[in-house]
Parts: sequence; structure tokens; C-alpha cells
Amino acid sequence: MRAVFKGIRALVVATAGLSGSLAMAADADQGATLAKRWCATCHVVDGDQKQASADVPPFAMIAKKPDFTPEKVAAFLIEPHPKMPNFPLSRSEAADIAAYIGSLRK
Ligand code: HEC
Repeated sequence: MRAVFKGIRALVVATAGLSGSLAMAADADQGATLAKRWCATCHVVDGDQKQASADVPPFAMIAKKPDFTPEKVAAFLIEPHPKMPNFPLSRSEAADIAAYIGSLRK
């Protein structure tokens, strides 16, 4: 009986993972790596990070804004923006970072 349960659970996890990756071509894990490289000097990009600039919104806070969408963040990153340096990010890298920020929305 327990083996059956385990089997069902594995199947559910596998299907959820599959539909998730189909829905979003962007790779949040890759986004996390990029965020740590490019954004962590100013933003708190994950829960383990202790230091960042004051007055810069942590990613977890950006993710919780009511109007947050990964699409908007990705577009924002590709556009030039006055208070942040311009990053040499490709469209897909911007989408990955946006997906990562989206994954912080809980
Ligand atoms: C040099 C410091 C600095 C770096 C590096 C930086 N940011 Fe920012 N970021 C800021 C500041 C300052 C603000 C607040 C801007 C404001 O209030 O207008 C901000 C705001 C934002 C916002 C919120 C925009 C909004 O709608 O409120 C997003 C999203 C964002 N940053 C993403 C990123 C990402 C992703 C990276 C890495 C690729 C990054 N930032 C790197 C300084 C930085």
C-alpha cells in the first residue's frame, strides 16, 4: 500500500514539474545565478543574503507588489533605467531573472 502511495506521489511531482517547465520557458534557477552575479550588490536577491544597499527594494518585496508580473520585470530589465546600471542581459536572461523573482512570490 505504501509503495502505491509513493508511486502516485512521484507521478504527481513529475507531472507538476513538467507542466511548470512547459508553461514557462524561462529558467528561474539560471535567473537566481544571474541575480546573484548582477543584482546582489544593491538588492537582497535571496533569503540568505545579509548585505545590500539601503533604499533598494529586496527582490522578495518586488515580487509581492500587487502589480508584479514576470513580463513587466523582464521588460523593465531590457529598457534603460535611470537608477540602475544597464546590464548586458539578453532577453532570455532578463526573462530568467524575472522568473526567479516571480518564484519568490508566495
Ligand atoms: C547599482 C545598484 C543596483 C543594481 C546593481 C541593481 N538594481 Fe535594481 N534597483 C536599484 C534601485 C536604486 C531601485 C529603486 C528604483 C526606484 O525606486 O526608482 C531598483 C529597483 C528595481 C526594481 C523595481 C522596479 C519597480 O517597479 O519598482 C526591479 C524589478 C529591479 N530593480 C531589478 C533589478 C535586477 C533584476 C537587477 C540585476 C540584473 C538589479 N535590479 C540590479 C538599484 C540597483
